[in-house]
Amino acid sequence: MPELAYLNGKTLPLNEALVPIEDRGYQFGDAVYEFIASYNGKMFCMKEHLDRLQRSMEGLLFPAIDRNFIETAVLELFEKAEITRAGLYIQISRGVAPRDHAWDKDMKTQVIMTIKNVKEIPSKLREQGVDIITVQDERWSNCDIKTVQILPNAMAKQKAKAQGAFDAIFVSKDGIVREGTSSNFFIIKNEELITHPLTKNILPGITRMVVKDLAKDLGIKVEEKFLLKTDIYSADEAFLTGTLTEILGIKAIDGKSIGDSKRGEITQKLYKGLRKKAE
Ligand code: PDD
Repeated sequence: MPELAYLNGKTLPLNEALVPIEDRGYQFGDAVYEFIASYNGKMFCMKEHLDRLQRSMEGLLFPAIDRNFIETAVLELFEKAEITRAGLYIQISRGVAPRDHAWDKDMKTQVIMTIKNVKEIPSKLREQGVDIITVQDERWSNCDIKTVQILPNAMAKQKAKAQGAFDAIFVSKDGIVREGTSSNFFIIKNEELITHPLTKNILPGITRMVVKDLAKDLGIKVEEKFLLKTDIYSADEAFLTGTLTEILGIKAIDGKSIGDSKRGEITQKLYKGLRKKAE
């Protein structure tokens, strides 16, 4: 079960895959990415991830790449690696060129991938829920595009870690709660699921979409509306969603306990539903 890299059509051991230093992804953050996971040897929501990848490329005015080409490359790497619980990272940059802010429209996109074993979130954290903090959202205004420009996300995650918290969620200057550093954010209030609407200020998470469907199947009402910090502190339950995060209960936000401070009942039901669907 080797961990592998893919570099423009070639499969290589991870440590042998190198990109040129004038790749625009490296110099300008001019690249888009996706992270897809597998369960029991089956990629989860691959179509939805590749649809979003395509939308991200369109958002940055990349030339179109044949959908079948990407899908075949992803599946071939996945089959070669034979990792049953894999995390596949795909990054497409605008290409390699002498450093210049503007680009030549004939540039050739660079496609790289890595495939590794998923590093699971410790089961103790899953059972007890996690502590998170809020941070001011200082990101750009196109957070619906999944670009590699995620330094504010890395800074926020590091801040959380330094404070002994698991993660941070972004809050706008006006106090609107957006999303996590690599996850979407939900609360449950009076048995209703509430999350931020799909705007340019959050990523349209694939897990977010799956959770909304699961909630409907379970007869739980879902509402998309703007939440303020004061709303989230008084939530009955709260959780993060993401490809790696899955559905992760929150036990405290900014040191304030959520609900009965245990991972809530509805969160647990949704998590079980997600695992069942994925496995
Ligand atoms: N991140 N919001 C942000 C800012 C994210 O980076 C992610 C995912 C999500 C959740 O999206 P999804 O459910 O499609 O994974 C929301 C991936 C996992 C990453 O950065 O590796």
